[in-house]
Amino acid sequence: MNILLISGSLSTMSYSGALLRYFAQQISKAGQSCDIVNFTELPLPLFVPDAPNSQELENTQTLVKKINQANGLIIATPLYHGSLSGVLKNALDHLPSTAFGNKPIALANVGGGIRAGQSACEHLRTIIRSMSGHVIQTQLGCFDGDFKTFDEELHLNDAAIKQRADKLVLELINMSENLSSNR
Ligand SMILES: Cc1cc2nc3c(=O)[nH]c(=O)nc-3n(C[C@H](O)[C@H](O)[C@H](O)COP(=O)(O)O)c2cc1C
Repeated sequence: MNILLISGSLSTMSYSGALLRYFAQQISKAGQSCDIVNFTELPLPLFVPDAPNSQELENTQTLVKKINQANGLIIATPLYHGSLSGVLKNALDHLPSTAFGNKPIALANVGGGIRAGQSACEHLRTIIRSMSGHVIQTQLGCFDGDFKTFDEELHLNDAAIKQRADKLVLELINMSENLSSNR
């Protein structure tokens, strides 16, 4: 299975990015391949509905190609004012409403406080459903205190959150296998 991981953060030392690196490690341990996309490396302009077709932009096409090649996806976003980041929503607005073609998608959000909750995951669940994605049951809400810096990089550190992340990865791989074999 090929899993695409999308980050909603533009931070250099990003907690969402660190969470995705943990997911990537677990996906590799399970013998599957993955690729991480962030919008610092794949910038998309502000979506303007009446501008020349955004689907002709090279970076939109790259994103669409990566989604098409994936059997499943994980989207992780920072919590911004109780929801997903603007950069992530802007990227999704560039995509057609059939973009996720009934692929399984796992959601995670990272907040700045222990009571951060999972509201960005809930908002994303509605958005992804309207874009033909199949959101899996297990989602992950965590906060910056679940991470530690070592080797000059952020790493997911909390044991219970790691356990939940592992469950999410296994569920996503299973769903990806099931839905891909039915395609
Ligand atoms: C504009 C803005 C709004 C934020 N709103 C919230 C919020 O509503 N709840 C929360 O827990 N943290 C909030 N935060 C904190 C971020 O969610 C937190 O720092 C997160 O770990 C950043 O993830 P990143 O490093 O991947 O960008 C906000 C941060 C910014 C910059």
